Amino acid sequence: MVQSNSTYRHGTILSADSTAPRSYGRNTGSSSSSTSTSASAPLPITTPERSLLAILKKLAAPTLRTTDFAKNLQEVKAALYDKDYARAFGSEEYRFAYALRWVPSRAVIYRRIFREIGGGRTLQRALMGSAPAAAEAKEKGETVVRKAIMLGGGAGSEVIGLAAFLGEQEEDLWATGKVEILAVDQSDWSSVLKQQEAALLAGYPSLGDRLSVQFQLGNVLDPAATSLIPFSTASVITLLFTISELFLQSRSATLSLLSTITAQSRPGTLLIIVESASLGLIPIGSSGNTYPLGMLLDSALTEDKGRAKEDRAKWEILQEEENKWYRMPTGSEECYPLKLENSRVVSRVLRRI
Ligand SMILES: C[S@@+](CC[C@H](N)C(=O)[O-])C[C@H]1O[C@@H](n2cnc3c(N)ncnc32)[C@H](O)[C@@H]1O
Repeated sequence: MVQSNSTYRHGTILSADSTAPRSYGRNTGSSSSSTSTSASAPLPITTPERSLLAILKKLAAPTLRTTDFAKNLQEVKAALYDKDYARAFGSEEYRFAYALRWVPSRAVIYRRIFREIGGGRTLQRALMGSAPAAAEAKEKGETVVRKAIMLGGGAGSEVIGLAAFLGEQEEDLWATGKVEILAVDQSDWSSVLKQQEAALLAGYPSLGDRLSVQFQLGNVLDPAATSLIPFSTASVITLLFTISELFLQSRSATLSLLSTITAQSRPGTLLIIVESASLGLIPIGSSGNTYPLGMLLDSALTEDKGRAKEDRAKWEILQEEENKWYRMPTGSEECYPLKLENSRVVSRVLRRI
């Protein structure tokens, strides 16, 4: 995990910021975008948000009751402050403490982001299929399995956000489809994910046997590990609050990962990248210079490199944000026993051409 000079991902957000310069040639399709900070006021909590937080509160209860929880949380905070991630995520107790404290706010935000993409219809189609395709599959008695691959998703925020999104859809839309979520992470979050999966299936009865969550341990910057990730089978790939950390670990390996995803993914696959705007300036070498994350992603993914077909951009932008606030809804503080945090994000939602 990374720390910027002024802000810390796990602390209360935020101060200084990145506002990316804009005019560069990109394949924007019919994207919706915003370039300035959207300082919207928090909205009142909705019934589905209340339900989601109720599920997370129930999930948290046994761990919160343990005598060591407060001590573990302090130790995780200290390790994160020291940027010692091996220590922060080095025990089951620490991983559960981290997940209880920082996952719920992000789950609320990611659910909202998933609902905003094409008014929810884009993800609905990508993961549940169109109504005619669903009807056809039902007639043939086929079960269509669609995959969401979540890189750096071990702690489960995006798994929960997506499960909530899917669990709130009308049952008719599902027909005979299923969604398999594969979370890939370099820390072993398998037990945390197992408990989250059980809580989600209990909390969203419509998911029944339609949703499963798997975990794959691996460093996504290591080609040997990425060769085991089935990108070619994915309908949706996410990199949420992880991409800056990857760029800091290795810019070239992160660009290679993006190339691998591009080479292996199918037309129509959605790639969703969201990052805290406080980490939206990526240091370049040791010069002290920085580069806006949005520009880096656009240059890697959505810019034509030449006029020849093979040099054309392989992704179109469906939605982009440089600086958008996601505030916890008013009333949410009564629904979850630990602090919930606002976030300001930079994001890209792309579709493979
Ligand atoms: C800031 S956390 C974000 C977690 C989650 N995506 C969320 O939004 O709550 C970054 C995650 O990326 C994982 N990560 C960092 N570098 C990684 C790498 N090279 N390979 C796989 N996972 C990595 C960390 O273990 C951690 O779970």
